[in-house]
This record gives sequence, structure tokens and C-alpha cells, in this order.
Amino acid sequence: NSPLKVAVLGCGSVGSQVVRLLGEQADDLAARVGAPVELVGVAVRRLDSPREVEVPAGLLTTDAAALVARDDVDVVIEVIGGIEPARSLILSALEHGASVVTANKALLAEDGATLFEAAEKAGRDLYYEAAVAGAIPILRPLRESLAGDKVTRVLGIVNGTTNFILDKMDTSGAGFGDALEEAQALGYAEADPTADVEGFDAAAKAAILASLAFHSRVTAADVHREGITEVTAGDVRSAREMGSVVKLLAIAELRVDERGEEAVSVRVHPAMIPRSHPLASVREAYNAVFVESQAAGQLMFYGPGAGGAPTASAVLGDLVTVARNHRQGTRGVGESAYADRAVLPMGET
Ligand code: HSE
Repeated sequence: NSPLKVAVLGCGSVGSQVVRLLGEQADDLAARVGAPVELVGVAVRRLDSPREVEVPAGLLTTDAAALVARDDVDVVIEVIGGIEPARSLILSALEHGASVVTANKALLAEDGATLFEAAEKAGRDLYYEAAVAGAIPILRPLRESLAGDKVTRVLGIVNGTTNFILDKMDTSGAGFGDALEEAQALGYAEADPTADVEGFDAAAKAAILASLAFHSRVTAADVHREGITEVTAGDVRSAREMGSVVKLLAIAELRVDERGEEAVSVRVHPAMIPRSHPLASVREAYNAVFVESQAAGQLMFYGPGAGGAPTASAVLGDLVTVARNHRQGTRGVGESAYADRAVLPMGET
């Protein structure tokens, strides 16, 4: 069988692990896809940056636009993050006939509709399991395994950095500032930790979870958001004295609006949860998503929510799915059906 050609955009902590796994797992991937998977290019900002992985000679390029415009590329993996140039590159890849695997939660939460429509129009796949909760398989279960059930609530810890900080405050009595410094020293929090500690990262993930769980189009702007910067050592101590723990929760649920119609409400905020609740035992930088549905009841998905290799695991899983579809000339379940339920205006929770 002719090789399946793959281009990777970005070679940071996730991209370098994707490149490593493409090399190390080449035989297994070929067996699962039914054809060799050939890496044909890796787009980076600078050729001379230090990298966690050795990229085969001749594959590095700074011209991402030219790489996605190649007619022979079957699948583009986007792990650059951010809105632009990621959005233009994904749209160009789809227009040029490639399917796309992305980990880009910010882009999906801001403008997923544009990407889904472009994929639909091109007849190509767009998969993004790695965008929410890293290695934890949660989007596929919501989209596929639970498609015959009715999800009523999704409750999750979807940001590893803030969970690490709150856990540190709980176990050592540290204040927010000291716990943040430790998270930064260990490489969890970015030098600019705003997206994590102010809840933007969790809000983007909550929007994606809510869209799939409730067959709706929720954007980050629909999510009522409050971060953890105001949580004090005293708050955490009081919670502890009451047998509870403070967690940054992403909560998406169905509510009945003033017309008696079901609508989606999504919010991210610190909350006290009893230590007996399964989410209370999620420690350090782990993530967990708790799903309640009518027929299945309660389900919990738990695991590493961030980090290069765990996130790359989710990317590679999507790659195998997309590659199989590509070879068979089919596409997976698109997102076009996901627009039939209203979203409550922000603040109306
Ligand atoms: N900054 C994110 C987190 C990385 O801490 O969970 C994964 O999206």
C-alpha cells in the first residue's frame, strides 16, 4: 500500500513527542493503518531552536503555509496552538485535501464552527481528542459511545496546572503565590500563567466538552469564568476543616430556560467539594471528567491531562482513526449535527 503522508505543524513539547512516536511506533502504526505512515515535513518557527527530538534531515521547514498546501499530504497534525496562524493553516490543509488532527483547544473553542464547516465542505476529517484533558479519552466517548444516551451533566477538573496549585495549597498550607512558583519551577505553569490561573484554558475545554455532550455550539465566550487567583490559604484551610477540598471545576449542564426549553449552561470556577467525591482524589496535575447521563448513570474518566507524551498519545490515536478513514475514502462522524440546542447567555447559570 502506498504510504500515508503526514505533516506536523509545531515541534514544541507535544510536537516533538508526536515526531518521536511516529518514528518509534512506525511498524505498529503501519499495521494499524494498513499502510506505512511517512513523516514528510515538520514546520517550526526557527530551524536552530533546541528540540527534544532529532527531526530527520531535510524535514524541518519554516514555511508552514507551503507544507500544508502540498497536494501529496494526507494528514496535517497541528500542535502550534493559538488562533493564528493555526486557523489559516488548518483551513488551507483542508482545502488542499488533507484531513487534520489538532490539539488546539483555544481555536476550537473560539471558532470551531468555521473549522467544522471547512472539513465538511472538503469531505475531510477534523479530530481533536488531545484538545481536552490530554491523554484522557473523553471526546470520543461523548461523541460516539454515548451518542445513544442523553448526557445531563459534565463536571471536570480539566486544567492540570491549577489542580497542582490547589493541591499544593491543600497539602502544604502554602499560599497561591508560593504554590504557583512551585508549579512554574516544575514546568507545569507557563512563565505567563494567565491562561491557566484565570481559567481561560479550562473555559475553552469546557466549551468543547459542552458542545459534544449537549449537541450544541458553545464557544469560550459563552462560559462564565472565574480563575483561582483569589483563592487564599485561609479558604483552602476552611474547606479542609469542613471535610472538603477546593478544586477548579468546569461544569456544563442542561437547564430548562424561561420558555421551558432545554438549554446549556457552562461555567468554570473554584468550588468546594466533599472529600468523599471521586473528583476530590484527583491530585497534582492530573485531570478527571465526571459524566452523568440518563441511561449509563455516572462515569468518570481520569488520567494525565497535560504533558508532551500523554498529549501526543491522544494525537496519535486520532491519526490512526483519520488515516484509516482516509485510506477507505470515508470520513468519521462530522460535527455538523452539533448545533441543535440553545446555549444560555453568559451569567445565566
Ligand atoms: N496548561 C494546560 C494544563 C495544559 O495545565 O492543563 C494542557 O492543556
